[in-house]
Amino acid sequence: MKLQIDRDRLLREIESLASISDAEAPAVTRIVFTPADLKARAWLRARCEEAGLTLRQDAIGNTFARWAGSDSKAPAVGTGSHIDAIPNAGKYDGVVGVLGGLEAMRALQQSGFRPKHSIELLVFTSEEPTRFGIGCLGSRLLSGSLSPDAAKRLKDGDSESIEEVRRKAGLRGELEEVKLPNGYYKAFIELHIEQGPLLERQQIPLGVVTHIAAPASLRVVIEGAGGHAGGVLMPDRRDALCAAAELILALETAARTSGAIDTVATVGICEVFPGAVNSIPSRVRLSADIRDTDLRRRDGVIKSMENACNAISASRQVTIHTELLNADAPAECAPEVVEALSQACRKHEQKFLLMISRAYHDSLFMSRIAPTAMLFIPCRNGYSHRPDEYASPEDIARGTLVLAETLAQLSK
Ligand code: GLV
Ligand code: MN
Ligand code: MN
Repeated sequence: MKLQIDRDRLLREIESLASISDAEAPAVTRIVFTPADLKARAWLRARCEEAGLTLRQDAIGNTFARWAGSDSKAPAVGTGSHIDAIPNAGKYDGVVGVLGGLEAMRALQQSGFRPKHSIELLVFTSEEPTRFGIGCLGSRLLSGSLSPDAAKRLKDGDSESIEEVRRKAGLRGELEEVKLPNGYYKAFIELHIEQGPLLERQQIPLGVVTHIAAPASLRVVIEGAGGHAGGVLMPDRRDALCAAAELILALETAARTSGAIDTVATVGICEVFPGAVNSIPSRVRLSADIRDTDLRRRDGVIKSMENACNAISASRQVTIHTELLNADAPAECAPEVVEALSQACRKHEQKFLLMISRAYHDSLFMSRIAPTAMLFIPCRNGYSHRPDEYASPEDIARGTLVLAETLAQLSK
């Protein structure tokens, strides 16, 4: 079997997909079920059809593109990632795993390889939490980690429910039908950019992921009292933004002093009401994103944040309401899939690093229903979730080649 990755086609396709965006290039913004996302999905389906794959879409819009194996009863080997992008993102996060997965399948087809197990490209809906506040919506539902009822209660910033939004996007069927049956996949592999600097720093071209860190996120609403910026004297103030500032710094301190470099905490959203120069902020909404490779340490930071909320609301006479949106356990990748990826690296004489994913991925949830592992390629300076995110053509092609080799070994 001679595997040949069509690097130029793959790079062209990455550029084409990046051009379907709500942000000015080089930034990419593609929020789930917006016209840009729907257009990108249609574009991608056309590429899968050109490759002769059989398409299926479930009720939340997870898209499956299948190359049927000779044994129709054997579980499939899956690969894939996501194409939604946070505001002001780059063009590689998720996309490398989707278009790299497609290219890997085309390379296998072209080599004359014929799989026994079907090989399936899986494009997850809304890996990013931008619209509904919770990441990995599609894979949570596929794996049964989020119940259909809980999903139906999720609303976007315009108070539109998932049911309304997905129906408008033309999706039929019921969320109850999304969960995959046990044993659906023999193995699942996600190719992704590292989103961190370790591979680049160590000049190692590939990472085989053995664990995925545990993410949690919270929504926080702080209510104080508004008023005239000139008239209300300082001792009388109950400024919600000042309270938020204290809380943000308390969270930063909790993460910095956890005792491990693996603890991270981020406040990425801070909305101030009413948002006028001469008006005291009466309400602030915050997001908090807290992660660790160790569940107890991660939960310790959540506890410290709760303690800070109590102390700040007492000292500043504000009310602080927190809502835990998700607190997921870390994932351990399947040793047999880690080994298959490692062997494929060795076969192609590529150095690789066994590593932890500090970002979360749909694989976190796929690992609950299928033997799962991930393959990382370097990205420049470790940058991700920003417009200057970059992975080199060589690294993208190398990752795709090793993915193709692994899919072949697992599906024969
Ligand atoms: C995924 O995009 C993450 O935030 O880790
Ligand atoms: Mn992302
Ligand atoms: Mn991603």
